[in-house]
Amino acid sequence: MSEAAKALYGIIGNPVAHSLSPVMHNTAFEMLDVDAEYTLFPLEADEVKPFFDRLHEEGSPIFGVNVTVPYKEKVLDYIDILSPLAQKLGAVNTIVVSKDRKLTGYNTDAPGFLTHLGQLGFKTEGKRVAIIGAGGSCRAILGTLCMIPERPEAIRIYNRTASRVEALMEDLGERIDLSIVELVHDVDDLNIELADLLVNTTSVGLKEEDPLLVDEENLHSSLLVYDLIYRPARTQLIRAAEERGAQTANGLDMLFYQGVLSLQHWANMELPEEVKSAMKAAIERELAHD
Ligand code: ATR
Repeated sequence: MSEAAKALYGIIGNPVAHSLSPVMHNTAFEMLDVDAEYTLFPLEADEVKPFFDRLHEEGSPIFGVNVTVPYKEKVLDYIDILSPLAQKLGAVNTIVVSKDRKLTGYNTDAPGFLTHLGQLGFKTEGKRVAIIGAGGSCRAILGTLCMIPERPEAIRIYNRTASRVEALMEDLGERIDLSIVELVHDVDDLNIELADLLVNTTSVGLKEEDPLLVDEENLHSSLLVYDLIYRPARTQLIRAAEERGAQTANGLDMLFYQGVLSLQHWANMELPEEVKSAMKAAIERELAHD
């Protein structure tokens, strides 16, 4: 007698080996008592289209996918239905596969970030924001801050490679009003000394020896410094911000909230609080091994 195949979920990207999503989602599946497993789908660029071809096929055991670097934008080509937010941001990190193998793409990074800001007690309306970077996470954060009714007063953005942030703004600007955004070409022109929120979306800080991209003299006690990096938990930027009395946050809760929202899309229900807490505890346990 053959058993029905277990429902599979997983994350596509390159690299995905160190993803915390499997431990977070498998903990939830266990608590919800569902026969499902969350796994890693490492894909090279030329493997993405074949993966989506198979995902569309009847009989595939995969019913949900997360997408990470560098495919969040590319997967739009293979999605059947895009949520309005994913369409506006031009980035998908969560895919729901229906029984008839239709793919719906969502972006849960943006609401994950906003949920965390709310939890930190940070109100975006009328605030001055400085953002560093131009990658996939920057797209979700910049786009969502410009779209929400509680828009900041002004956003200054800087990236080492100007052409990259220019391309990002040109693309986002086709669908989102970016009139509050000013691109600056020198990190000192971010005006961090006058800002309420500084967001690091770059990979600088992942390594212990990475430089501090901003002048620490400009960090101050009425600033929230949000570094998307959570491994290490306290980057040099976070430590410098703490020394200057700034409020700080790393990207762990954004990861957690986007995961909760992804699972809610797959399960089509609000997760019980105890499941959410267990998901959070699972990723914290995993990080404690570092
Ligand atoms: P993600 O999609 O997760 O944001 P990414 O696309 O690799 O990751 O983006 C990495 C970001 O870190 C970019 O903004 C990159 O700047 P460039 O566009 O100039 O490459 C930034 N970055 C990486 N190393 C950097 C460094 N040494 N100094 C300044 N910025 C750096």
